Amino acid sequence: MSSQMLYEGKAKKIFKTEDPSTLLVRYKDDATAFNGKKKAVIPGKGRLNNLISSKLFDVLNRKGINNHFVKRLSDNEQLVKAVEIIPLEVVVRNIAAGSLSRRLGIEEGTPLKRSIIEFYFKDDALGDPMINDDHIRMMDIADDSDLVQIRQTAQDVNRVLKEIFDGIGVLLVDFKLEFGKLKSNGGIVLADEISPDTCRLWDKATHEKLDKDVFRQDIGDLPQVYEKLLERLEDAQ
Ligand code: TMP
Repeated sequence: MSSQMLYEGKAKKIFKTEDPSTLLVRYKDDATAFNGKKKAVIPGKGRLNNLISSKLFDVLNRKGINNHFVKRLSDNEQLVKAVEIIPLEVVVRNIAAGSLSRRLGIEEGTPLKRSIIEFYFKDDALGDPMINDDHIRMMDIADDSDLVQIRQTAQDVNRVLKEIFDGIGVLLVDFKLEFGKLKSNGGIVLADEISPDTCRLWDKATHEKLDKDVFRQDIGDLPQVYEKLLERLEDAQ
C-alpha cells in the first residue's frame, strides 16, 4: 500500500486515494483508554471494529442518515468520503454510566428520563473537556445552524441505533459521534466510526458489557466480546 498517510490517530490511520474526494481508513489493533494512559495491542480488534462500523454506517445510510461511509474494502479497511473533522465529540446517553454516573452521582444502569446530548472539545492535550453551545460558538467550532443539524442527526442516529440493537437483544447505553464537513461541498455528515470502542452496549437480559469497558475495566476478553456482538449484528436489518 503505497499511498500517502494523511493522519494517524489512536485507533485508525487515514490514507489518500487517487480520488481527492475519497479517503481510505485502516483500523488498527491498538486499544487506548483514559486519554491514552492505558494502552494495548489487541490482535483482531481492527478487523472487528471495521466490520461492525461498516455494518452500522451502511444501515444508517440506508435509513437516510447521511454519513461518510462509502464501502468496506477488506478486513481492516474502508473507503470514506473526505471530510474535515469538526473537533467535537458528541455523546448521546440513554442510560447512566461512565462519566455521567461519576459526575452526577447517578447509579450506573439508571435509565434516563430523556436522552442527553453532551459535547466535548476534541483536544488530547486538554483531555477532551466538556463544553456547551456557547463555548462552541465562541470558539468558532460550529455555528448555530451546524449545531441544529448536529443535534438533530445525533437524535436520529440514536433512534435508528436503538432500534437495531433492540432487535438483537442489546441495550444502547450511550455512544460518541463525530461529524465532518465534506471536502466536496462543505455539507455536514456523520463521520469517524461507530463501534463497541465508541458505544456502551449491554446485553438486555444479563447487562453483560459488550464494549470497550471490558478493556477499560479489565473485565473480559475484548476480541471474544466484539466477535459475539458482530455475530449478533449479522442478523440485524
Ligand atoms: P464517558 O461516559 O466516558 O463520557 O463516555 C461516553 C461514551 O463515549 C461511551 O460510549 C464511550 C464513548 N467515548 C469515546 O468514544 N471516546 C472517548 O474518548 C470517550 C471519553 C468516550
